[in-house]
Amino acid sequence: MFTTEMIDINDLFTKGFTVGYLQEEWANRILKVLKNQAWIEVVPDVLTSDGKIDKYYESRYISVASMMKPDEPNRWFKRYMDEFCLWAEPVLSNFENGNSYHISAFCGTEGYFMEPHSDVGDRSVLDIIAYFGDDIGDENSGGCLDFFKVDVKDPENPNKMKFLDRVVPKHGMIVIFNNMNPTIYHEVTKLIKPGCRRFQLIAQAGMIDKPNWSVSYKAEKGFYSYHKKAVLGNTDSALEILENGHVGE
Ligand SMILES: [Fe+2]
Repeated sequence: MFTTEMIDINDLFTKGFTVGYLQEEWANRILKVLKNQAWIEVVPDVLTSDGKIDKYYESRYISVASMMKPDEPNRWFKRYMDEFCLWAEPVLSNFENGNSYHISAFCGTEGYFMEPHSDVGDRSVLDIIAYFGDDIGDENSGGCLDFFKVDVKDPENPNKMKFLDRVVPKHGMIVIFNNMNPTIYHEVTKLIKPGCRRFQLIAQAGMIDKPNWSVSYKAEKGFYSYHKKAVLGNTDSALEILENGHVGE
């Protein structure tokens, strides 16, 4: 499934991330599955000290199935992760629960961005992000993944961030992060291409805490976004939108 010659596992430790590719046939197959999902717009469930939601990202959707039934991934997503876990076995086998994972599907639309952050707080060993889309891969359209070295004592200070690298996500590209290094931050530049759909499968391997809820829902394929956004990890907020919201394009 992978075109493995591009992946260098040692980069995980020297650069903090490494890049690989899915075979085109597989990338196209997974994209088709993603296009047939029901999507709901989300906000983070991280609150600032004054109780407001931190401006962390915008125009971000999660597949309703990912949110409601995190332990029942689509069979294509599962196959992809089974192969990934084989490839990453030399790393994952060194960690407790290294071979367990949690996978979610996300989609960014025009206006999507992510401020510089670290995913170390997820308490997983690796973050594995695969990118899919017909209209991604052009640096000028935004949606680039930038990496920074930060001062671990003052990581949010932009003056102390040193730009390291830029990855322009392409259809079928996988970016794997070493999620145990709090000195490397990443951000997503604003997606400015009208009508763009930048799909991601995001897997966290070796998680200590896994979500274990499962909720029934009825949602048709398409994008749900109606005045309100769901709160990531709060299934009640999503159910409310599915009941009261409408299906947009
Ligand atoms: Fe992240």
